[in-house]
Amino acid sequence: MSTAEFVVVANRLPVDRGADGEWNRSPGGLVAALEPVMQRADGAWVGWAGQPDLDIEPFEFDGMLLVPVPLSAEDIELYYEGMSNDTFWPLYHDVISPPRYRRVWWEAYVAVNRRFAEAAATAVSDGGTVWVQDYQLQLVPQMLRELRPDLTIGYFHHIPFPAYGLYSQLPWRRQVLEGLMGADVIGFQRVADAGNFTRSIRRLFHYETRASGISVPQADGTTRVALAKAFPISIDADAYIELAQRPDVQARALEIRESLGNPKKILLGVDRLDYTKGIRHRMKAFGELLQDGRINVEDVTLVQVASPSRERVDAYMQLRDEIELTVGRINGDYDTMGHTAIRYLHQGYPREEMVALYLAADVMLVTALRDGMNLVAKEYVAARIDNRGTLVLSEFAGAADELGMALRINPHDIGALKNTIMRAIEMPGAEQGRRMRALRRKVIENDVDAWSRSFLSALASVRSRRTDAKGT
Ligand code: G6P
Repeated sequence: MSTAEFVVVANRLPVDRGADGEWNRSPGGLVAALEPVMQRADGAWVGWAGQPDLDIEPFEFDGMLLVPVPLSAEDIELYYEGMSNDTFWPLYHDVISPPRYRRVWWEAYVAVNRRFAEAAATAVSDGGTVWVQDYQLQLVPQMLRELRPDLTIGYFHHIPFPAYGLYSQLPWRRQVLEGLMGADVIGFQRVADAGNFTRSIRRLFHYETRASGISVPQADGTTRVALAKAFPISIDADAYIELAQRPDVQARALEIRESLGNPKKILLGVDRLDYTKGIRHRMKAFGELLQDGRINVEDVTLVQVASPSRERVDAYMQLRDEIELTVGRINGDYDTMGHTAIRYLHQGYPREEMVALYLAADVMLVTALRDGMNLVAKEYVAARIDNRGTLVLSEFAGAADELGMALRINPHDIGALKNTIMRAIEMPGAEQGRRMRALRRKVIENDVDAWSRSFLSALASVRSRRTDAKGT
């Protein structure tokens, strides 16, 4: 197999296999962000193809080499559903749902991380760069460094990193930090996440940590500097703008409004069906506004897109039951023949349809209890080429650090959430415009291309410092 100078390692490959056996590009933004880099460097992407026991040879797709890492049904159960999504996911989202600590899951996590590290080590050329993505692969940086000391290694953590008081619950807390410290640059969404990470390093390892990096002692008695820093991720804003300008997408937005009975105001929630997203809190507030008579179904409809996610994990099954019970109750109490309170859609949609929905929605509700970034908030803003619409944004989403002109909320404070939803519904056009213009400037300036460029340039500067140190 030929090798690549630049390799991305992520749990998932950037493609899905359709029912016809054809590969299609997945909708995620990461592949769009990395595409230019991948093309320039003849890049490779190492990841799981999304189905059990699919053992296929590396193949070319859109100018990238895709290197599948097969996962058996048991790997999926222990490494993906267990350790990744029933331990790390809830622990790193401030234990909103109780994390489970199971030794068999951990053992599978170590073994699968090793397979990803080995696959990356085989795919990358001498002195090349590997960029590891997210919490499913936290041990890969150090494993790779041991296999291939010649590499420059980056890691980006897409989800929050919790405070030490919570992180310290993890029985394998030292091993995970050691795994991450194998990277030259460890990127986080928020300054607070990077701070939580370095504080954990100080507490558990007593290493020296400065703005310029963490001094990690090496086996040979020297130290290596690892940089832990915030690089807030973004979206391909231009792609959303182009879609929003398309006449067919705009016509679809009108059609959506009409099919909902032309309510005066449409509220919108778009999430993976996940307990971190605060969907229940949003529905509680909305249901109470109907009950209080502050809104009625003729005038206001909530559209909730909840895309299916991790459906075999207990906490997700329970959440689905609770949400669907709540939707049924609220609709049963308030629907009329012509109007519905909540139009609930347990489905995923293509990007065109999402942009049409964004254009149709007067108020976007992002009420996450904890969220690494929340790209939906940024997508809504990018799509509003008319400078209208209001974003209600949880302070617990990473996006709140950049999107200061949104209406900020604490989703646990239902009273305040209700008042903020009313304020958003009633916001005059001029104020919508003032806020939306400022929000759009932010998202357009710091798009996903700027994100990957700033991460990769931090990585390149670590590499040149290392080469200098060797040369002298
Ligand atoms: C979050 C994570 C990603 C993950 C995505 C979808 O955004 O940060 O790493 O890929 O959720 O979840 P899934 O479990 O379907 O990959």
